[in-house]
Amino acid sequence: MRKLIIAGNWKMHKTVQEAVEFTKELASKVTGASVEVVLCPPFTALHAVAEAAEGTNIAVGAQDVYWEDKGAFTGEVSAPMLKEVGCRYVIIGHSERRQYFNETDETVNKKVNAVLQHGMIPIICVGETLEQREAGKTEQVVRTQTEAALKGLDPGLVGGLVIAYEPVWAIGTGRTASAEDAQNVIRYIRCVVREIAGDSADTVRIQYGGSVKPENAAELLSQPDIDGALVGGASLQPDSFAGIIKESGKVQ
Ligand code: 13P
Repeated sequence: MRKLIIAGNWKMHKTVQEAVEFTKELASKVTGASVEVVLCPPFTALHAVAEAAEGTNIAVGAQDVYWEDKGAFTGEVSAPMLKEVGCRYVIIGHSERRQYFNETDETVNKKVNAVLQHGMIPIICVGETLEQREAGKTEQVVRTQTEAALKGLDPGLVGGLVIAYEPVWAIGTGRTASAEDAQNVIRYIRCVVREIAGDSADTVRIQYGGSVKPENAAELLSQPDIDGALVGGASLQPDSFAGIIKESGKVQ
């Protein structure tokens, strides 16, 4: 059985001090949780959050990475640097990166390779815009994004990946995909992974993201192919994030 993974993507929120306080409070609320818990703070707070999370069941992830290990790339942060400060996961290809920062399917693939090479686990984001959904292109979009992200990977490594299906129209809008809709797209993504990497598709974990909150978590997570949640807004308060983790524990 795939272990559910609940990750909080804080985006550009929280100072180091706020992040550490949050981590300590969350740790006390989620001790013994049966699901995997991940916090993805901004780069500046990664080290401090990793320290605060030591000895707890909270893992730490970054929100982006650059694919070269080092060099003249002003402003960028590399995979070995993230590994050194205690990251286990790295979000790659979030729709906000694709929309505002020129992330492409090709750069996503380079980043996935860099992260795997340094022994961390990519959380690869895919998802369609509202326009694409209304044009009936959802499957085509997630197929293209998934195939590009996994291009050239050793099939043996694919089973350990995390993919997050985040329909762009559901992010930060309060509008969630119905559990059935999310299940259908996620099952389709798993079929695409199966075409690429065979039975590794059975172990790859595929999250849903987009306006997940304690009230809708259990319904989404009880779908057979939904293996977790990537949470934005509701991960910013310890109570709501812990609420989602508690709800997911009922499903696991
Ligand atoms: P919201 O949960 O705020 O909709 O954000 C989802 C998201 O983008 C997580 O990566």
